[in-house]
Amino acid sequence: MNNNAELYKDLDRILLTREEIRAKVQELGARITADYQGKKPVLVCILKGASVFFADLIREIELPLTLDFMAISSYGSATKTSGVVRILKDLDNDILDKDVIIVEDIVDSGITLSYLRKILVQRGARSLRIATLLDKPARRKVEDLHVDYMCFDIPDAFVVGYGLDYDQTYRNLPDIGVLSPKIYEK
Ligand code: IMP
Ligand code: MG
Repeated sequence: MNNNAELYKDLDRILLTREEIRAKVQELGARITADYQGKKPVLVCILKGASVFFADLIREIELPLTLDFMAISSYGSATKTSGVVRILKDLDNDILDKDVIIVEDIVDSGITLSYLRKILVQRGARSLRIATLLDKPARRKVEDLHVDYMCFDIPDAFVVGYGLDYDQTYRNLPDIGVLSPKIYEK
């Protein structure tokens, strides 16, 4: 496990191991497969944080499906949301009348997803659901955000790995860990 010792030493502890993550992602893939029988959903990856989760999840869904990608900025390099959401890269394809599943790494304040949901609904998606790997319900600022699929409820701590970053680093860790506060408090 310690081929990334340089990165692992910045973690206070491992929160979710790759084995725990794999099991939950498989479960979620099976649920989506069951829920979308007879449909051809569009899976939308929210770059860059969801990329690792997305790559694993789509391979657990046994349905015809298509992929699209979107990049949004909400954080910069700090650990708190600014409340300002900006589209950095938009979808390539039209989602009119499509069954869309937004795939996100983590729901924190909920500001990013509530904004995204609004604009994708306006574009005429037939249905729209949200799948997130992690949820930090303690930090929610948006009341009306419904998360349809979620793998793990986590405590209010800043986590990295499995796609999640701090200042663009740590995304390649196969496990998810709590970043030591001394990394971002210095
Ligand atoms: P929200 O708009 O506050 O829900 O922000 C969600 C986004 O913030 C996620 O897509 C992540 O990019 C980022 N984020 C929130 N919490 C964490 C964390 O603990 N680690 C890494 N990124 C996080
Ligand atoms: Mg993100």
